[in-house]
Order: sequence, then structure tokens, then C-alpha cells
Amino acid sequence: MTSSFSKSVLTWFDKHGRKHLPWQQDISAYRVWLSEIMLQQTQVTTVIPYFERFIAQFPTVQSLAAAPIDEVLHLWTGLGYYARARNLHKCAQTVVNQYSGEFPATVEALAELPGIGRSTAGAIVSIAFQKRAAILDGNVKRVLARYHAVEGWPAQLDVAKQLWEIAETYTPKTRANHYTQAMMDMGATLCTRSKPKCEECPLRGGCIAYAQGNPKDYPGKKPKKTLPEKSVQLLMLRNTAGDLLLQQRPAQGIWGGLWSFPELAIDADAQEYAEDHYGKVIELEEWNSYRHTFSHYHLDITPVLIQLAKSPRAIGEAATHWYNPHQPDALGLAAPVKKLLEKLAQLDPRATKTFATPKRKTTSSKSK
Ligand code: ADE
Ligand code: SF4
Repeated sequence: MTSSFSKSVLTWFDKHGRKHLPWQQDISAYRVWLSEIMLQQTQVTTVIPYFERFIAQFPTVQSLAAAPIDEVLHLWTGLGYYARARNLHKCAQTVVNQYSGEFPATVEALAELPGIGRSTAGAIVSIAFQKRAAILDGNVKRVLARYHAVEGWPAQLDVAKQLWEIAETYTPKTRANHYTQAMMDMGATLCTRSKPKCEECPLRGGCIAYAQGNPKDYPGKKPKKTLPEKSVQLLMLRNTAGDLLLQQRPAQGIWGGLWSFPELAIDADAQEYAEDHYGKVIELEEWNSYRHTFSHYHLDITPVLIQLAKSPRAIGEAATHWYNPHQPDALGLAAPVKKLLEKLAQLDPRATKTFATPKRKTTSSKSK
């Protein structure tokens, strides 16, 4: 049975739908497939001349399959997303070799072919073979998400599943070709992303987002990951020769196995820590902190340059190394550490023989 939803869509199509696009004439699976691939990421007006040139050059799927890939890519120049052109060529060859040059007429078989997803397969089945098959491209997702006020980001599996179910439900048995074209056209011309023309929309009566007055809230946006934030001090301990102390990080965790500066909790006393472990501190300079973002959290790094009075033998569990920034050793360095070492090399500590008194803390670290 044709629902009132699809009835409204088809009535709208009869009056307003596009019926004179080049691929709507002399309809064949080859022409519909070619147009749908071109239209995947590109607007109708851009596609039209490319479609005409392709059809003139390659009138059949056999001629396209037999063409050198360079010729195909050359004709595609300007359409962008060149993986589409490579898949187009592969797909033509598969259709010729595995299907005797006849495109299969089911969504399942088409969706196995290179460059054809479930929605493109649905468009080909409904438009070219005039059989019932649902589509769910970006335009249709927007219409359906608004009509049913489907919350969430459509790339999420559960949201996509709901939208596909709705799409399948409304696709009519008869005139699936017109219905498919109408849904695409309505999404492109009426139910637009930023200025939906609800007053002209045949679905207005049942549209929940319209009733709520918030069509633009649908579909939901990609959730912004709010990453946890951590803060550390990186201690750039410099000995009297101007070398900097590096420690090898544990194999597990961030920068695993790489060489880094000793890390200290953000609220710990850097001078006290340095004097406890490495002897007297002559100068301490806190640099501006900056953010380094990992996939799982933000790390706010405060580099602290600490000039030591001596060149102590490093102590502690981790492997250590005194690093000469002017004659860098081949060590695996964590990216932020590499940048800091480059800055330190520019500062050229070897040129300065006199050190000022500590800028920050002047009290002895031993006074507990
Ligand atoms: N976008 C994808 N397929 C389309 C079609 N057949 N008509 C208009 N826009 C489209
Ligand atoms: Fe989109 Fe507005 Fe139509 Fe609802 S009424 S489907 S929001 S154009």
C-alpha cells in the first residue's frame, strides 16, 4: 500500500520533480550507474557536462571497461574524489567480466561492486530497474531525520539503522523510480540544510521537526569528543656542559620506549625535586605551557629549564642519557621533546658562562 507519506512525495514529484536530466532520458543501468557515481559528491549542474562527455566517449560499459585508466582519469579531471574514477573503471570491468556486461538488478549484488554502497545500489535498482529499493543519501537522511525527529548523528550505527528502517518503510512498491528521484530533489531543493522551505513542503503536515519549530537541529551533529585534560611539567635539566638529561620512557603508555625529559606532576615543586635528585639548582626558568593532544586526552605541558650546578650521575629506575643539543645523538625522541631540544639548541647555553640566581623560588628546597 502506498502510504500518505509516499503519496505526498509522488504528487510533489509530478508537479516539481526533475524529469529532464540527461540520465533520466534513454534510461539504462549503465547510464543511471554512471550518473549516480558522478553525483555522489558533486552537484547536478557540475555533473551534466561530464556525464555527456563520458557517454560520448564510452557509450557502453564494455567501452569503458576496455579504456586505459589514464583516459578515464583524464575525462574525470575536475570532478574530484578520484577514487570514484578508479572504482568506476574497476566496476565496469567487473560487470563485463562477471556479469557479461549486464548490471545485476539487486541491491545485494550491486552493493558488492566497487564504488557502489547500499544507497547508490538502491538508487540504481529503483531508477534503472524500476523495482522497490530504498535509498539513504545525505539529502534523504536530512528529510527523514527531520520528519521523524530522529536524534543523533547519522554516521552512528544505531541512528543509521533507524533511518534505514524509515526509508524502507516509506519506499512504495510502485513508482519507486519517481519516489527516489523526488526524495533526492526534495532534500536538495526544499529540505535544505540551512534554510528549509517548510511552507512549500508537502510533508509539512506530518513533520515532527516542523511542528517543534526546529528542523535545523536535525540531523544531529558529530559529537565533539571532550577529551580529559592532564597537566605535567617536563624538566629540562641542564648540566654544566650544557647537556640535557633524557630518560627512556617505559615501553607501555604514551611515547613508549622513546626518550623524554623527566616528567613531574604539575603541582609538584620542580626545584625541590631537582635538588633532591640532582644537587644544587643555579637557575630555574618556567616556560609557557602549551597543549599537546593525544587521541585520548589533552596534555598541557609546562617545560621548566633547570640549570644544575654540577653534572650529576643520573639516578633512578629509567635509563638516562645526557644529550648534547648541538651534536644530537640518534635517539627516538617524543615529538614535543624534539621541539624543545631544538629550542634549547637555539638558546646556545654554551655561549653563556654566567648564570643568574633562580628566577622563581629562592628558598632552599630542603626546608620542609
Ligand atoms: N544525487 C544523487 N543522485 C541524484 C539524482 N538521481 N538526481 C539528483 N541528485 C542526485
Ligand atoms: Fe524538511 Fe520542513 Fe519538509 Fe519537514 S516540513 S521535511 S523540515 S522541509
